[in-house]
Amino acid sequence: MKNGTTVICFANNKGGSGKSTTCSNVGYGLSLMGKKVLLLDADMQANLSLAFLSEEQVLEISEGDRNLYYAIRDEKDLSSYRVATGYEGLDLIPASPLMSSLEYDLFPKKDREHVLDNCLKSLKHSGEYDYILMDAPPTLGGWAMNLLIASDYLVIPVEASPWGLFGLANMFDFYQKACERNSHLSLMGIVVTKVDIRKNYYKQTMETLQELQDVHVFDTCIRMDSNIEWSQDNSKPVMAYKKSSRSASEYMNLTEEVEKIASGKKQH
Ligand SMILES: Nc1ncnc2c1ncn2[C@@H]1O[C@H](COP(=O)(O)OP(=O)(O)OP(=O)(O)O)[C@@H](O)[C@H]1O
Ligand SMILES: [Mg+2]
Repeated sequence: MKNGTTVICFANNKGGSGKSTTCSNVGYGLSLMGKKVLLLDADMQANLSLAFLSEEQVLEISEGDRNLYYAIRDEKDLSSYRVATGYEGLDLIPASPLMSSLEYDLFPKKDREHVLDNCLKSLKHSGEYDYILMDAPPTLGGWAMNLLIASDYLVIPVEASPWGLFGLANMFDFYQKACERNSHLSLMGIVVTKVDIRKNYYKQTMETLQELQDVHVFDTCIRMDSNIEWSQDNSKPVMAYKKSSRSASEYMNLTEEVEKIASGKKQH
């Protein structure tokens, strides 16, 4: 049986595929289910941080030294970099735009692919969190490898658009390379996001994904919903912004699917 903390990375080298939206809403959903969750904003765009904090708060944190950039650069234990999100059972380690130079800072380090894993070690082993959810940048470099090496699961959000699947093969190759370095890593599945059911692209995306061998596609798709954008404008998860919205119930359903798969593995 694995330890009590499950680490899930939301990654896809395709930009704008719904990684930050999915990571923030599944994280909040898990906290609503009574789980203790830590969100780690691993992208210099700081979108996961902005999903919970105001622009002023994120700017203040990103200009100070209590953000993920300095923690990784100086190889610090991440415990003291946490901030409260204002929601019970949900904490956050914020990002900084300085993370755009992280690849360069990691390059000369000894054991440079394991820096994040080492910085997370005490938090993972403390058992304080049921889940650590990480929002990856849209790149597949040394930093993204750090994320997958520290993870138990990869979730790939894919946008249901004509270019949504372009580059997915590179994501799979990168995942295979990560598996060679981290034997605990598995692909939890692909979640299809930003679906417009009036368009045929959606059906085409689903058909292509269903043809993939040994790749789970989540039953829940996330449809286009302007409540997502409004919730982000208000620095809130959509379930907190408008509980009755379609995307709030879709993200809750997706959260339940994620939880079911992760808890199934824990029991083995
Ligand atoms: N279901 C949805 N309905 C409407 N808009 C959405 C939905 N999901 C995401 N968006 C919007 O699409 C944009 C991209 O989403 P998001 O930032 O989550 O993607 P990402 O993969 O994290 O992007 P990046 O690669 O830049 O990190 C955002 O502006 C977000 O508000
Ligand atoms: Mg993002």
